[in-house]
Amino acid sequence: MKRDFLSIRQYQSDEIRELLKVAHSLKKELKAGVGKRTLEGKTLAMVFQKPSNRTRISFEVGMYQLGGTVVFIKPDEIRMGEREPIADIARVMSRYVDAVMIRTFSHKDLEEFANYATVPVINGLSDCYHPCQALADIMTIEERFGSAAGRKIVYVGDGNNVCHSLVNIAGKVDAEIVVCCPEGYEPDKDCMCGNWTLSHDPQQAVKGADVVYTDVWTSMGQEEETERRLKEFQGYSITTELMFRASDKAIFMHCLPAHRGEEVAADVVESAASVIFDQAENRLHAQKAVLQALLAS
Ligand code: CP
Ligand code: NVA
Repeated sequence: MKRDFLSIRQYQSDEIRELLKVAHSLKKELKAGVGKRTLEGKTLAMVFQKPSNRTRISFEVGMYQLGGTVVFIKPDEIRMGEREPIADIARVMSRYVDAVMIRTFSHKDLEEFANYATVPVINGLSDCYHPCQALADIMTIEERFGSAAGRKIVYVGDGNNVCHSLVNIAGKVDAEIVVCCPEGYEPDKDCMCGNWTLSHDPQQAVKGADVVYTDVWTSMGQEEETERRLKEFQGYSITTELMFRASDKAIFMHCLPAHRGEEVAADVVESAASVIFDQAENRLHAQKAVLQALLAS
């Protein structure tokens, strides 16, 4: 039976912990120059319906490092559901490649694709989830604190795809998670599992936080709401003053790309507390762990 990686929710706590353990090992092996080519002869198709820097490059480099190869499919190429039904694309691609990574808008489309595909499907970002990001995030927290268990993570901003996956993974690794957003921008309960706390007061929410996390206020596909969101998210920026309310050793996290002067102040991005480039790097190692788990025979 093939297995997919569409959301953190599909995975048990021990499976998430195992992926994280492998990701840390892969990082050490790569740095020591002793990485293994466990996916020799395997091909990953990468379908993008939105732009990307980290997801595209980290998957592509990850496959090469593991001895495999990739086919990159640009947003205007297959035109999922327009030029051809999703079900047909999934069945055709399954005849050519060993796994498919998709970045798309509708999570339902992704699920439909996965239902018809006979090879593993990986979510590279949908409107509901960003599970690869969440794995890299916890990996980064573990590097900084030894373990994520018992740590207080405060997500300040839009209750979006990144937020949902962060909430879901926090529960799997026994971290405490608080979501702090303006009214009307709460996360979707149908996309989440585990325990989480809701706040509408950033000053209060970040008190004693080990991790302060944010993401853009306007996600890809919501561009026409930009002006309204800029107004409604006032007071939710991560500033140096806000970081002072967190714990002394608190770290600042962002999945990137970051909009300086909106969800985060430029000096926070550049501060010693900021681990954003470790997060970005860890996408590579975390995704290699996922690829190996789904593909290595
Ligand atoms: N964080 C993230 O997924 O970045 P990209 O959109 O650049 O892939
Ligand atoms: N929430 C953002 C994440 C980008 C990585 C978006 O969906 O555009």
